[in-house]
Amino acid sequence: MLETLARLPEDPLLGVMAAFRRDTDPRRVDLGVGVYKTEDGDTPIPAAIQTAERELLGASTTKVYVGAAGNPRFNQAMLELTFGAGSEILASGRVQALQAPGGCGALRIGAELLRIADREAVIHVSDPTWANHVPLLGNTGLRIERYPYLDRATGGVNVPAMLAHFEALSRGAVVLLHGCCHNPTGADLSAADWEAVADVCERRGLVPFVDVAYQGLGGGLDADAFGARLLARRLPELLVAVSSSKNFGLYRERTGAIVVVSPSSERTAIAMTQLQRIARGMYSMPPDHGAELVARVWESAPLRASWTTELESMRTRIETLRASLVAEIAQRRPDVDYSFIARQRGMFSLLPLSAEEITRLRDTHHLYMSGDGRINVAGISRRNVGYIAESLAAVIR
Ligand code: LMR
Repeated sequence: MLETLARLPEDPLLGVMAAFRRDTDPRRVDLGVGVYKTEDGDTPIPAAIQTAERELLGASTTKVYVGAAGNPRFNQAMLELTFGAGSEILASGRVQALQAPGGCGALRIGAELLRIADREAVIHVSDPTWANHVPLLGNTGLRIERYPYLDRATGGVNVPAMLAHFEALSRGAVVLLHGCCHNPTGADLSAADWEAVADVCERRGLVPFVDVAYQGLGGGLDADAFGARLLARRLPELLVAVSSSKNFGLYRERTGAIVVVSPSSERTAIAMTQLQRIARGMYSMPPDHGAELVARVWESAPLRASWTTELESMRTRIETLRASLVAEIAQRRPDVDYSFIARQRGMFSLLPLSAEEITRLRDTHHLYMSGDGRINVAGISRRNVGYIAESLAAVIR
């Protein structure tokens, strides 16, 4: 049986991570996979999570199963983080969350739910979008199409083209939106753009599926939830995939949730039974460790305060790095305009580089980025920003 299988190439993004680890040159810089890094290139565990982990170790008495819906306290924390504690939408009962194995797991089981609801549903993803969106959603059998998103001339969003695409969709079409910190472009929707998206979704009966993987790293915790909150207020139905990988630093613990908003608490409760059945049939139950840590941080005033302060310092550090990279490039290459990097948000920017330039940056300058020219801004530091700018200046035509 196994002899029939063909060897597949390495996942491109994970391949960049592996290639960087093999490179021993002291100048090497990892701008590949999207993980937050400090000045020293470390990806630390937030202090609040460390404290919660120590407390949990001392208090744990069992590892008995929790259930297909995961940790209810974590699910409540995710609802409050996404929609705001005490918000009208939470009080309405129209919204519930189910813990999933990371944001990826949330995207997948959300797509499985859509497939059960409508086998013919088409999911429209932005052009470009995070490469893994396509298999995560499309391997359910649902068709994937693309809508115009990035305006390559400005580094912003081509809002008219995006809205025109949405306007032409038929009722029940699903549109995948990045709640904040668009991956891979860093080009986000403004408040007015979100209003326009809500208008067209309302008018055309579209179902948004919002991927919120970087809440807190773009404009702040509330600002980054603006789109999801607005759509939940204005529309009868939507799905939201949330991740605790980046903002709680829990990457490998696979901690996330799928959130369902429907017109009534009854409908939402029905959708939750479906989601539990999907989870049970795919992986039975999500891992608890990360979820329990998030719940503990969220429920403790001092731990929550420590976490929000640390997250805010990560966010502002990324903003500073964006500004200094723009300045360093401008100093060396006044003939090119890379100022869009400072206008973008979150961990990523998509640089307008050719495949050959990206290869040269890797092979000659030891600068690792994903194959489409995406850089992880959090991989920059005060120490290497000059070197990165120098390397870019040498290859940009
Ligand atoms: C990324 O885009 O780099 C992250 O979301 C990590 C991943 O799994 O690809």
